[in-house]
Amino acid sequence: MQIVSTICACKKALSIAHDNMNSVAFVPTMGNLHAGHIHLVEMAKQYAKFVVVSIFVNPLQFGVNEDLSPYPRTLNEDIEKLKAAGVDLVFTPSVEEMYPDFDGKALNQTMMITPPPFAKLYCGVSRPRHFDGVATVVIKLFNIVFFNSSAPQFAVFGKKDFQQLAIIRELVRQFNMPIDIVAAETMREASGLAMSSRNGYLTTAQKTQAAELQTLLKNIQQQILTGNKDYKKLETDAAQSLNASGWVTDYIAICNASTLQPASVKDSALLVLAAAKLGTTRLIDNIDFLR
Ligand code: PAJ
Repeated sequence: MQIVSTICACKKALSIAHDNMNSVAFVPTMGNLHAGHIHLVEMAKQYAKFVVVSIFVNPLQFGVNEDLSPYPRTLNEDIEKLKAAGVDLVFTPSVEEMYPDFDGKALNQTMMITPPPFAKLYCGVSRPRHFDGVATVVIKLFNIVFFNSSAPQFAVFGKKDFQQLAIIRELVRQFNMPIDIVAAETMREASGLAMSSRNGYLTTAQKTQAAELQTLLKNIQQQILTGNKDYKKLETDAAQSLNASGWVTDYIAICNASTLQPASVKDSALLVLAAAKLGTTRLIDNIDFLR
């Protein structure tokens, strides 16, 4: 496994794969890797001969009061996990390497991608420029990793961040990028809690309680499948019940799984998205299903 931290070295390592007409699959991450990330790597290996993983905590996607500085950075452990998983190339750039024009504060100096309007819904409400930052780093990483090649190229994203996945799908579609986006299922703890680098912020008691989020989503799914069509009431009741057990709900939204617009009763592919805070830790989860 090769580890590179400059764009130049990354392109050089990849040009060998491209010269050999190898298919390439890419898994972008912010590190602090857990079994969810490794599941993405396993999927990448099923799709392509050459697997690239990036580890980069992207400052552009964190709001001013968010957890950019405490975000867990565990590079040595991450590298061991990627080696064991059989990754070919790891790209670990610095902030200066990725954003030479970014002074750490003034986002406006960096050219940014504006995602489509649905990025303003759900997580976009409480994290106003989050998806601009995500789309910007992802297009940049794609430009570094992918060449104008006729060999198949894939990028793997988790359904855990369903709104992010939908935005990346739009990014490649609207910018005509020859990359297939592969969606991976959410990996969970035995309790049902979706694995996340942010779970490390939770106390033991909070971690036990955090499983309530998935239970609640399953409950909404069950109610819809048994004929409940009052989506607004289901959303507000669920938020109230979370709040009553000590969470601070950001949103619970029943939406159309392909457009991510609020669901109408005619929609059959549904997605329930949720974000809520337990103490100071903001957790997200979702469930998608056919009605
Ligand atoms: P990060 O949170 O590190 O997640 C990297 C990838 O792992 C994303 O595609 C995410 O959806 C997926 N993932 C996270 N938890 C998962 C789980 N429990 N099961 C399955 N997949 C999971 O998402 C980001 O980083 C960043 O926004 C990034 C796309 C790298 C851009 O900076």
